[in-house]
Amino acid sequence: MTDTCVKDIPAHLGKEIRLKGWVRNIRHSGKLLFIIFRDGSGEVQAVAFKPDLGDDLFEQAKRLTLESSLIITGIPKQHQKLTGSYEISITGIEVVQYADEYPIGKKEHGPDFLLSNRHLWLRSSKQWAILRLRHAVYFAICNYLNDHGFFRFDSPILTPNACEGTTTLFELDYFDEGKAYLSQSGQLYLETGIMSLGRVYDFGPVFRAERSKTRKHLTEFWMMDAEAAYVEHDENMQIQEGLIRYVIRTVLDKCASELKILERDTERLRRADAPFKRMTHAEAVAFLQAKGSGITRHGDLGAQDEVTLTADSDVPVFVERWPKEIKAFYMKRDPANPDLVLGNDLLAPEGFGEIIGGSQREDDHDLLLSRMKAENMPIEPYQWFLDLRKYGSVPHSGFGIGLERLITWMSGIHHIRETIPFPRMIYRIYP
Ligand code: 4AD
Ligand code: MG
Repeated sequence: MTDTCVKDIPAHLGKEIRLKGWVRNIRHSGKLLFIIFRDGSGEVQAVAFKPDLGDDLFEQAKRLTLESSLIITGIPKQHQKLTGSYEISITGIEVVQYADEYPIGKKEHGPDFLLSNRHLWLRSSKQWAILRLRHAVYFAICNYLNDHGFFRFDSPILTPNACEGTTTLFELDYFDEGKAYLSQSGQLYLETGIMSLGRVYDFGPVFRAERSKTRKHLTEFWMMDAEAAYVEHDENMQIQEGLIRYVIRTVLDKCASELKILERDTERLRRADAPFKRMTHAEAVAFLQAKGSGITRHGDLGAQDEVTLTADSDVPVFVERWPKEIKAFYMKRDPANPDLVLGNDLLAPEGFGEIIGGSQREDDHDLLLSRMKAENMPIEPYQWFLDLRKYGSVPHSGFGIGLERLITWMSGIHHIRETIPFPRMIYRIYP
């Protein structure tokens, strides 16, 4: 007998195996007991026949409840009706624990109930599929960066200064040093890393005290920031495009069964793996105004604007060259127009909105300093950042991907809260 897992069943057809897991579902009729068994790697139907199991064991098995933990032995074979599926004839059952009555699954539940039971909800098949997709997206990003010369460089979470403006900072008391803040993005630290390693990335939780109750906002989310020396605005966008297209292909290739559970329209994803569109902020504004949007020449995109801009597009859309007053202090001014900065957002199709923010960085010490002063920023906590512009400054660029935004798009689900194991939103911290 071999210990194995559901995903590896095809290698063991006709031979006795042992599986360790949980009861997804159970029903019986007469001398037969049907268990939908899951073990993390997949699920399979297991069938117990009373004469094979004996009366005692069969009665014990009949008392199994949803989510009870158990070890089964049995012989796998092809499913009689479903090709590509398997079925196990049970030869033995060891109950590890009879579960209490499981709170999820008997009826339709509202989001609030499910979120309060997130610790259990994670086991349901849709959540299982999203978690696996998250895993695939995470490693696809890391693989791509690794293959393109980026070194992992871990930026700190506790910081003395803001990266993305002071309105969304989580603040805490830091011993005798005064205030510290939870990082909004590791970008500024990555800019130090490129001066040592050339190309770097980080990947970790970031925090935004954002009072937005939308389906796209979390207060804690995972960001991958990448940064590269001697890369300018255009090449920066090429890297973003190459990376996102690689993620799409990987998800299509590795997550077929997950996408099926999620009822994702994979044809839409496939079509997104083609050259991305580009437009300037000014072009976007003109287009949107013609469609009736109230956006102004110096305005940021609203959620509806993001939908409108991508409505007729199969592929993601870059919006580049933004008015400087609505973008962060570190973005490099556009040499062709000092009112603009060389920043880009990347908008996903199908209305999923902004998935990346990136830019070339201001590498001139005095220009950066004057921009910071104009924004009334404190200079002292950023002295180290300004130093980078004094000791061998180089043109450089980078970008940040919101992991959960990207997963929301890949999985095609409605709300970002399902893409992270324990979502943090302004109205929720439990469990
Ligand atoms: O556009 P953002 O604010 O850019 C930065 O933080 C840069 N420092 C990144 C860089 O250049 N290294 O954030 C980057 C991405 C957004 O495009 C979005 O996908 C995601 O992070 N994001 C959020 N995701 C979930 N909830 C929120 N509240 C988010 N805010 C931003
Ligand atoms: Mg942004």
